Amino acid sequence: MVKKIDRRTFLSYMGTGAAALAAASAGLGVLEGKASALSPTADHLFGFKTNKVSGYFEPIEPSKEDLLLLPKGYRYDVVAAFDDVINKAGEKFGQGSDYNAYFPIHGSNQRGLLVNNHEYTNIFSIGPIAADGKWTKEQVEKDLYYQGMSVIEVFQDKEGVWKMDTSSAYARRINGFTAFELTGPARGTSAVGGATTAKGTFANCSGGVTLWNTVLSCEENFSETAERAGLPLTHYGWVVEIDPFDGKYLKKHTALGRFNHENTAMGLTADGRVVVYMGDDKKDACVYKFVSKGKYDASKGRANSALLEDGTLYVANLKSGKWAAVTAEAIAKLLASDGFKAPSGVKGTREELLAKFKTQGDVVTNCHEAALLVGGTPTDRPEDIEISPFDNTVFVSHTNNDTHGNIHGHITRIFEKDGDLGATEFDFEIFIAGGRQSGFSSPDNLAFDSSGNLWIVTDISSSSHNKGVYKTFMNNGLFVVPTHGPGMAQAMQFASAPVESELTGPFFTPDEQTLFLSVQHPGEMTTDLSKPTSLWPHRPGDKIARCGVVAISGFRLGGK
Ligand code: FEO
Ligand code: CA
Ligand code: CA
Repeated sequence: MVKKIDRRTFLSYMGTGAAALAAASAGLGVLEGKASALSPTADHLFGFKTNKVSGYFEPIEPSKEDLLLLPKGYRYDVVAAFDDVINKAGEKFGQGSDYNAYFPIHGSNQRGLLVNNHEYTNIFSIGPIAADGKWTKEQVEKDLYYQGMSVIEVFQDKEGVWKMDTSSAYARRINGFTAFELTGPARGTSAVGGATTAKGTFANCSGGVTLWNTVLSCEENFSETAERAGLPLTHYGWVVEIDPFDGKYLKKHTALGRFNHENTAMGLTADGRVVVYMGDDKKDACVYKFVSKGKYDASKGRANSALLEDGTLYVANLKSGKWAAVTAEAIAKLLASDGFKAPSGVKGTREELLAKFKTQGDVVTNCHEAALLVGGTPTDRPEDIEISPFDNTVFVSHTNNDTHGNIHGHITRIFEKDGDLGATEFDFEIFIAGGRQSGFSSPDNLAFDSSGNLWIVTDISSSSHNKGVYKTFMNNGLFVVPTHGPGMAQAMQFASAPVESELTGPFFTPDEQTLFLSVQHPGEMTTDLSKPTSLWPHRPGDKIARCGVVAISGFRLGGK
């Protein structure tokens, strides 16, 4: 089913990208100049003038094997897996590995801190749930412990093997027990029960790196964990910020809204303000961007984080091509208008809505309904978002939405007016759609390489693997799609995931010689621990499947 692309054709795609960036072909040279004048973006670490071709490979075929399969010439090392000890204190690596971010130590591409998100637990960490569905106290505590984040130190040894350094002074867990400070409009307000701090973070899905080298991590499907642990729901569903090099720096930024946060992608407006794009991964939910009030000042380093406390949250209206401000003022105005009618998805009378959205704290805490009120377009599970380092267009994964027939999902590309990330108007296109014709289904996390290729991982749910219309895609995978040149919008498979897993959190080292990638929930359909459906990563004598992070190497420069 996958359109077979021969190696020579593929190399010519990659060559086009490299040549365009290295020098001077007319059309792309213009783009390069434009890109250089545009803002830096923070979710990648690459410059435009490089000539790296990270994606030199022979595409693989889909597979059903319980293996992480890569193209010929590539290898992977498991740097950390569920329950591995990560530091001298004996803390354990969490479960449900998702987002990765690599921070070089002393500028090294061979030693750095790796931040990994832990999204959820399963039978391999908490054991089977009782027939009545009740969790024990111990299970609830394990659920809080194994979610959150890990900061680990990783290095590549003389033989080229990536390993974890458990003697690291930085390695630590951040989880459901770690105290966070709330910032922004909801802090201390009745919307969050007057709280200025929150206990813990969990359901940490994707994230992003800031321009000041901290990590934003996104609380996605938080409700069940919070409810089981008796924690207030309004303290979760935020974007949290941590500093990998400073264990005391722990914030939840309420100005960025509370919803099922998938990720962040940070860039700058033409006039130097910070922009954060975000998806709300739910069926019929919206795409957002936050624009700071103040301007970014590189010399201020981490103090720029205060920019995330004050600004305007916008939601995309795909019909009008406008970003609508999600503010208490805008809602009050709408509710006061004669013809007001609550849009689909918003419950309550005018009076009830007025009472619900009195302050900006109320608005950010109940963000999805507020966004629908001001005209946000419900979309098909917006997951990861990336800003192209090539031309400032914004790529949004819409994973799927079976409630109205979008079975295989698509990637939307947003063109901000004049290429300014601060614009309030935009146009968009469907850049690529999942399905037989493209060879992938259900796009999720995205990453760019410096040749302008989009790396896409897929998230077909495990219950659908190898069944019905999902059959031909087999296991989930990692695909590479050029965003310009003759190979534009053609997907090539780079990796196939183990049984009942998805690949998450692709993240390159600055030299693009290593790709960190998470293998999330292998064997997650297991109901009997004596019969695991996957045993990845197949450690000798191990009887369970373990999520974890791998370091992929074998990338070659310049198509050699
Ligand atoms: Fe956690 Fe939306 O994937
Ligand atoms: Ca995801
Ligand atoms: Ca997912």
